[in-house]
Amino acid sequence: MGEWRRLAPDPMFCWLIQPPLDPKGRDTMKKSGLAAGLLSAAAIGAAIAASHAQTSLPHGDSRAGAVVFERCMGCHQVGPDAEMGIGPVLTGVVGRAAAKAPGFSYSASLENAGLIWNEATLTDFLRAPSARVPGTKMPFAGLAKSQDIADVIAFLKTTDPRDQ
Ligand code: HEC
Repeated sequence: MGEWRRLAPDPMFCWLIQPPLDPKGRDTMKKSGLAAGLLSAAAIGAAIAASHAQTSLPHGDSRAGAVVFERCMGCHQVGPDAEMGIGPVLTGVVGRAAAKAPGFSYSASLENAGLIWNEATLTDFLRAPSARVPGTKMPFAGLAKSQDIADVIAFLKTTDPRDQ
């Protein structure tokens, strides 16, 4: 079993294969194994998050997005006659700086977030508004499905900024 430890420098691996019999040794092994496990889990998580941000924005469908937008309509309007409500008018929001719809009183958090709304920033925000912009006054938990997010962004893109 000494053999194993020399062959397997990774403490997690070593612990899985051959738990050391000495109770003291086992304890150390467990702890370092756990730490190594947590570290690699964190690394894998970060890698997934990075690849997610880069590659997995699904293609958005504006018609499906119009249906998703029904969930926003309690607070937001779009189009030529849109008026602000609980939330700002979202006509032409894709491509402009955050917190710029005329007349709406935004939270300081969103005003100071320095965001330009594009697919990436909107995806982040719509997934979990108060995680992306802590202190935002958008009282909405977020859209869980990436496809819904892509669709509603595609829908928002069809609104004409000249209608503002
Ligand atoms: C219960 C009300 C409510 C719902 C539902 C809601 N929002 Fe909002 N939204 C707000 C408010 C209020 C703000 C202003 C946030 C601030 O000032 O921090 C906002 C801000 C925004 C902004 C930033 C606008 C800008 O001019 O920078 C976007 C984009 C947005 N919402 C999209 C959506 C979408 C898409 C949905 C539906 C999936 C949605 N919201 C659902 C209330 C809501």
